[in-house]
Amino acid sequence: MSPVTSAANLPEGVPTIRVIAMPTDTNPAGDVFGGWIISQMDLAAGTTAAFRANGRAATVAINGVVFMEPVVVGDEVSIYTRITREGRTSLTIHVETWRRARHTHLTTKVTEGDFTFVALDENRRPRPLPPASPANSPTIAASA
Ligand SMILES: CC(C)(COP(=O)(O)OP(=O)(O)OC[C@H]1O[C@@H](n2cnc3c(N)ncnc32)[C@H](O)[C@@H]1OP(=O)(O)O)[C@@H](O)C(=O)NCCC(=O)NCCS
Repeated sequence: MSPVTSAANLPEGVPTIRVIAMPTDTNPAGDVFGGWIISQMDLAAGTTAAFRANGRAATVAINGVVFMEPVVVGDEVSIYTRITREGRTSLTIHVETWRRARHTHLTTKVTEGDFTFVALDENRRPRPLPPASPANSPTIAASA
C-alpha cells in the first residue's frame, strides 16, 4: 500500500486513539501482534460506542478485519472510528488503523474492520440507543 500522497487517501472517521507500538506488543517474529492491534481497535470503537450510547456498551461482533501491512516497534499507531449503522440497541463502527514510521511523516492504513456494540443497562441487558444529538454524536462533536 502506498503512503499518503493525496487528500483522497486519508483516514476516514474521528481520531480516537494514538499510541506508540512497544517491544512488549510484538509476536515471536518481532512484528506487532495482530491481537494487540485488534485490542486497540476494540478500545477505540468502545470509546465511540460508549459516547454514542451515553453509557455502557459491549462488543457483540467483530467482522471483516483485514491486515494490509505490518506494524513495527516504534510506529505511531492511530485509530479512527466512524459509526456506519445504528439499530435499536446496537451500532456498528468502522475502524481504521494507520501507522506512521517513527522518523517519517508518511502514514499508511494497515488494518480495518467493523465492530458491533450493544448498549447495555445496569443488568447487562440490551437497552435502546438514545436519540442522536450533539452531546452523544462523535462526528457532530468532532466537527463542532
Ligand atoms: C451483548 C448481549 C447482551 C446481547 O444479548 P442478546 O440476547 O444477543 O440480545 P438481542 O438478541 O436482544 O440483540 C441485541 C442487539 O444485538 C444485535 N446482535 C446480537 N448478536 C449479534 C451479532 N452476532 N452480530 C451483530 N449484531 C448482533 C442484535 O441484532 C440486536 O441489535 P438491534 O437491537 O440494534 O436490532 C450478549 O450477547 C452478551 O452479553 N454478549 C457478551 C458481550 C461481551 O462480553 N463482550 C466482550 C466484552 S465488552
